Amino acid sequence: MPHKLPILIDTDPGVDDALAILMAHRHADVVGLGIAAGNVGLAHTTANALKLVETIGATTPVFAGCAQPLVAPPPESAAFVHGRDGFGDTGYLPGARRADGEPAALAILRLAREHAGKLVIVALAPLTNLALALRLDPDLPSRVARLVVMGGAVTGRGNTSVAAEFNIGFDPEAASIVFAAWPQIELVDWELTTRHGIGFDTIARWCAADDPRARLFDAISRKTRAWSQARGRRQLMLADPLAMAVALQPELVTRTQELHVDIALHGAARGATLVDWENRSGRAPNTRIVVDVDQAGFEALAASAFGTE
Ligand code: RIB
Ligand code: CA
Repeated sequence: MPHKLPILIDTDPGVDDALAILMAHRHADVVGLGIAAGNVGLAHTTANALKLVETIGATTPVFAGCAQPLVAPPPESAAFVHGRDGFGDTGYLPGARRADGEPAALAILRLAREHAGKLVIVALAPLTNLALALRLDPDLPSRVARLVVMGGAVTGRGNTSVAAEFNIGFDPEAASIVFAAWPQIELVDWELTTRHGIGFDTIARWCAADDPRARLFDAISRKTRAWSQARGRRQLMLADPLAMAVALQPELVTRTQELHVDIALHGAARGATLVDWENRSGRAPNTRIVVDVDQAGFEALAASAFGTE
């Protein structure tokens, strides 16, 4: 049995986060879940993570993180997409487990030392916890093998404002700290996500599997699927599972561009990912933008979260 990749997921579950977490538990050694506020408030995102790991019988530790962005008050949540509780408002019976007492930022630093040189961090939420960890220990990147971030909109086609994608737009200061400090970020942005949606029929087939993971995802995703279809979308956008697929199987990536990326902090473009497409800044690339992914491979990997592949 090949040694499983040690993965630390920073996440704000969140329906698409849930599928990404299921994928990771099927294929990797998930050493921890750091929980952020984002899709919904920290109490809900933490409870959702605990319910998810309990449902799949995992012993993965869950570390609650920051309840607020680093500087500005939190913008609107994504409850309109994920439900008020972030998990489709199913009214599930809360899990019996409690979050670990260690704050997410400290858990990130500890786990990076314990898995030095091997740890893959997959950031599926606003980058508040990761930014805090960097402020506590600027040497963090030297101990992390890969950082995969779901965030941004590389040509400014935002999903939470004209130019900003949700994770970056929720805490731009945190994103600015992370992009300024990390030598190479593997970036799965919103625009890539919109090119790699998955059909509702396919999702329905996955949800019909006789498996507790399928039953859970079917229940928590029902509202999000209905909301997406009501907006006339023909596919479900699965940003976090796409980022997780890149983390788990980098060979699925068929094209990338290595460029410098900055975060806009002020004005109408606040939260935008500013990509130096023409290398005008003279600054070295800090980001490997994922430009294309093998769609069939992505769908097969996502399906495997339910034990169907
Ligand atoms: O823009 C998509 C991102 O925002 C995803 O991580 C989704 O879960 C939301 O947090
Ligand atoms: Ca997320």
